[in-house]
Amino acid sequence: MSKLQNIYKVVSNEKLCPRFFRLCFDAPSIVRKIQPGQFVHIRAHDGLEPFFRRPFSVYRVKKYVEIFYEVVGPGTKLLSLKKKGDPLDVLGPVGRPFAMPPSGTKQVVMIAGGIGVAPFLILSDILRRERRSAFPALELILLYGGRTKGHVFNMKEFKNNGCATHVATDDGSVGTRGRVDKLFAKINPDPKTTFIYTCGPNPMMAAVQRFARQHKIRGQAACEEVMACALGACLGCSIRTTKGFRTVCYDGPTFDLNEVMFEQS
Ligand SMILES: Cc1cc2nc3c(=O)[nH]c(=O)nc-3n(C[C@H](O)[C@H](O)[C@H](O)COP(=O)(O)OP(=O)(O)OC[C@H]3O[C@@H](n4cnc5c(N)ncnc54)[C@H](O)[C@@H]3O)c2cc1C
Ligand code: FES
Repeated sequence: MSKLQNIYKVVSNEKLCPRFFRLCFDAPSIVRKIQPGQFVHIRAHDGLEPFFRRPFSVYRVKKYVEIFYEVVGPGTKLLSLKKKGDPLDVLGPVGRPFAMPPSGTKQVVMIAGGIGVAPFLILSDILRRERRSAFPALELILLYGGRTKGHVFNMKEFKNNGCATHVATDDGSVGTRGRVDKLFAKINPDPKTTFIYTCGPNPMMAAVQRFARQHKIRGQAACEEVMACALGACLGCSIRTTKGFRTVCYDGPTFDLNEVMFEQS
């Protein structure tokens, strides 16, 4: 049985746009096990600061594991300094994967805010390649909202997976001006055949939840909370759901879109 925590080697760490980096590491045991929506918990540094590991969705797996991240504080800053060949202390994969869309789904809409786009490339890979027979003629759409053009990256990999991509930025520097909810008009949802996945800041996911309820569309949300153990032990990442408090790391990070009480989390 493979261990949950291991030291792997960094293969590459590159800047993809002014705000976002992609780090690849060689972890065959994670490549074998990972499912879309799960995450890895990374120790950014050997010293005491930062003390806790940092959680990152798995962006893609090919030969290596890829994460896609934004530098926002000390942990991600240290991560951005990793070089090819450096050791990387990783716990994972952890968390509950996304549920697959129900049979009969014809349109999958992924709605992401900022770095919340991270779990969707691997999801579109799986839907497009491995589940092709279960979902023939599946339409894949990515609605992506970034603060400004520094938060918008080349979406070639999504396009290569057959995703139609639509972008909004708060200041209109790329795509539609406004929040990602401005892009809802780009889709034509059908309660029987559309399924939504969303990940991003809570106010954005609350807007997605309202839209989904209004159109009676089912979906899943990938939630983010500050984490310590990532194993369901410390309860530090608990959020409010219609089923009571649930931990993001162990009960999630993926939840039924209707279940999460975003406004009170
Ligand atoms: C399941 C999961 C998956 C994630 N996947 C990714 C990913 O793929 N790419 C990525 O860039 N980031 C991801 N994150 C967020 C990432 O873990 C944080 O940005 C990171 O821990 C910040 O560490 P830091 O030391 O750089 O900054 P810190 O100093 O720890 O934080 C900087 C600022 O960000 C806020 N913050 C930190 N973590 C979170 C969080 N989880 N939710 C909301 N606000 C937060 C802090 O309150 C602070 O204001 C994920 C989080 C979770 C829980
Ligand atoms: S981080 Fe400890 S229970 Fe989730």
